[in-house]
Amino acid sequence: MQLFLDTTDINILKDLAATGLVDGVTTNPTLIAKSGRPMLQVIAEICDAVEGPVSAEVAAMDTVGMLDEGRKLAAIAPNVVVKVPLTRDGLIATREFAHEGIATNVTLCFSASQALLAAKAGATYISPFIGRLDDHGADGMDLITEIRTIYDNYDYDTEILAASIRSSAHVKEAAMAGADCATIPPSVFQELFKHPLTEKGLELFMADWAKTGQSIL
Ligand code: G3P
Repeated sequence: MQLFLDTTDINILKDLAATGLVDGVTTNPTLIAKSGRPMLQVIAEICDAVEGPVSAEVAAMDTVGMLDEGRKLAAIAPNVVVKVPLTRDGLIATREFAHEGIATNVTLCFSASQALLAAKAGATYISPFIGRLDDHGADGMDLITEIRTIYDNYDYDTEILAASIRSSAHVKEAAMAGADCATIPPSVFQELFKHPLTEKGLELFMADWAKTGQSIL
């Protein structure tokens, strides 16, 4: 499973990327707005910081505008993935990007039918928003399972990028459901390392080791 960070915070990104466990980054207009910095500069810095795919979202709502913006974003670095909304115009743009060899991440997916269309359009990634579905009383993980079934039925290449992740449980459940990737807020990513029994067990191991008076080196 590929693990992406859902962030524009370059310092946190570099810190977590140093683990070697970060496979890419996703951004969105809200995260760019929170950064308070010029989008093109933020995306260029992120692309320098990680080798993997970096999703940068268009702001245009019409196909022509999406294509113009997406081509500009793709020109920033070879690892840019152009993020487009799951709309009629977005999927028409996705098909054209596929013809041009530009990788795409179709975002704001909330139904299996939408995901089916995105795969038919040749999307590189599909981003079903688990947390926002949960927020609306649905079970976001069911959507991952449904998309996995459909994509496997027809051998679609589009990769399922579980998004809108709210907890480490979401990451586990998305992996169990067969998502290819998950994009994770840094705070949740840092939780993935932790378990109270690991901490307690280590504490006990170290206390017992100290009693031996030994040194390995
Ligand atoms: O960036 C895509 C997605 O992960 C954002 O989800 O619900 O945390 O805004 P959310």
